[in-house]
Amino acid sequence: MKIVVAGQGAIGGLWASHLAKNSACEVSIFPTSVTYSALKDQVEFTKPFNDLTIDFTHNRGLSEHIAIPLATRSHLNQASVILVCVKAFNVATTLSNLLPLLNETVVIILCHNGMGTVEEVASLLTPTMSLLAMLTTHGAFRAQKNHVIHTGIGETNIGLVKGSLKREHIHQITSCLHSALREVNWHNNIKEKQWLKLAVNCVINPITSINSIKNGHILDSKFTPLVTKLCEEISLVTQNEGLVISAESLYATVKQVAKSTANNCSSMLCDINSKQRTEIDYITGYLLQKAKRHHLELPENHQLYLAVKALEEGRT
Ligand code: PAF
Repeated sequence: MKIVVAGQGAIGGLWASHLAKNSACEVSIFPTSVTYSALKDQVEFTKPFNDLTIDFTHNRGLSEHIAIPLATRSHLNQASVILVCVKAFNVATTLSNLLPLLNETVVIILCHNGMGTVEEVASLLTPTMSLLAMLTTHGAFRAQKNHVIHTGIGETNIGLVKGSLKREHIHQITSCLHSALREVNWHNNIKEKQWLKLAVNCVINPITSINSIKNGHILDSKFTPLVTKLCEEISLVTQNEGLVISAESLYATVKQVAKSTANNCSSMLCDINSKQRTEIDYITGYLLQKAKRHHLELPENHQLYLAVKALEEGRT
């Protein structure tokens, strides 16, 4: 199966490296970090065919150099799958650059924190294209430009968010990804998983960013009242979205994720520390948008949203 990975951050590098080592998949990479006009030469074949070498450190510490072809026009046109691993706020631009170069039956997989991108890109796709969401708990860290470290073994869930896919096609995509980096599981109702991840991100990411703490510290008793309130507010929105995620079960999931990633900095804190834009608009921002639609007020989440926006804009 021919796959193009768009994005060469930690997760893009993780997937591209594993797919490149799997003979069942033919992978190339479209490094969105470079401006599209610079990439046009590559895509149009006016530059010589090139590889990108990723210095990849496996979870057990072994390092190796993995050469991945840079995607050209023909890679893009022949790809059956495009795995988009860019920040949520870059998804729409990345796809509008790529779509004119893709074939009509391509399957696009979006892998990022937060929600709201499907609504942004749905109208860009033709009716024969399908869109999947990928949620992964693998930990990866981009230590340097082309150096990716697999910091924690996790699992990956995928499911359809727009369009339709035949059973054989689902099986083919799932098994190709699974044989490259297991476990990969298909879900007929990925929306519930997306909301659960969003809910965890709504709690862990803002608290760790505002207090500049590692994930494990949100388990300190001083955060218990805040975490409880946040879980209650989020659970209310999920109920209005037709999902059953109780405040108690959400609290238990947050605790479990905070424990298993205790020594990690959340992606939002990393972004704040490196003065990058955060995904707050697609995490708490998305939650608040949905709440508004259901005429719900979420004072605690709203406070955290404003505090992260202030941090992001350097106002504090
Ligand atoms: O955004 C992140 O960092 C992660 O999704 C999570 C779950 C908070 C763990 O670090």
